[in-house]
Amino acid sequence: MLVAMSHPRTRPLALVTGPTSGIGLSFAHRLAADGHDLVLVSRTRERLETLATTLRSSYGVEVDVLAADLGRREELALVERRLADEDRPVDLLVNSAGFGLKRPFLANSVEDEQYLLDTHVTAVLRLMHAALGRMVPHGHGAVVNVSSIAGFLPRGTYSAAKAYVTALSQWADLTYGDRGVRVMALLPGFTRTEFHERMDVRPDSAPSWLWLDADRVVQEALRDLARGRRLSVPSRRYRAISVLARHTPAGVQARFQGLGRR
Ligand SMILES: NC(=O)c1ccc[n+]([C@@H]2O[C@H](COP(=O)([O-])OP(=O)(O)OC[C@H]3O[C@@H](n4cnc5c(N)ncnc54)[C@H](OP(=O)(O)O)[C@@H]3O)[C@@H](O)[C@H]2O)c1
Repeated sequence: MLVAMSHPRTRPLALVTGPTSGIGLSFAHRLAADGHDLVLVSRTRERLETLATTLRSSYGVEVDVLAADLGRREELALVERRLADEDRPVDLLVNSAGFGLKRPFLANSVEDEQYLLDTHVTAVLRLMHAALGRMVPHGHGAVVNVSSIAGFLPRGTYSAAKAYVTALSQWADLTYGDRGVRVMALLPGFTRTEFHERMDVRPDSAPSWLWLDADRVVQEALRDLARGRRLSVPSRRYRAISVLARHTPAGVQARFQGLGRR
């Protein structure tokens, strides 16, 4: 899907957070293949530069990199400023950066928990505010917030953060959709990326049929965005699980806490 442009550039421009691996990496490749120029944002400059070189040579698009830790307010501000820039307008924002904490709530310092909240909630809120502030007056643009099916489940502060992202995205789409700007929450289930590895979780901690492929997740997400969907839940099995989750008491859901955790 090619998101239309608001500016006399040759190609539309997408800013993707968390593009150095997993779902964000799949977005970067898919969007470049579809003819978007890109701004790539994550913490590791070296990985960003390597990816930018690959994308330029594979797809012939322009790629800028912005090394920033979105959990740190002063670095986040650089990205906010880039999104508000009228001279180089961003047509599509994809908020994919994120991580899970290795330990349970009380084993973490409150600063670890605050960093998760800052990355998953504050950064998404502030980047969306900056992007919509420029997009809405022009009546053009789109935001994809990578949330999670976990937002429907009682799975710690990560779930609580994702519930916020899903609700925020639904509200924003309802509010700004008729002004030409789309906001969609993407709710993947377990997806093979670096996410669980970084948490020291074994891939067999959830049954193999529950694992999704990141490229397929992104393909479905972009199709859903083009169709005007407010929520994108890739795969039939997770669409069924999401319906079940919303109608199952929290006490029953809590019995499945161990999935994807060992
Ligand atoms: N994998 C799953 O099963 C799954 C399921 C549902 C939802 N999700 C969500 O999908 C999104 C992408 O996760 P993934 O599975 O693709 O994980 P991943 O493979 O670990 O990729 C995470 C990306 O986010 C970046 N990142 C992490 N923290 C950051 C920070 N503070 N500031 C800037 N960049 C940061 C990482 O790059 P650097 O390390 O270079 O900063 C990396 O590019 C996350 O929001 C996650 O919550 C994942």
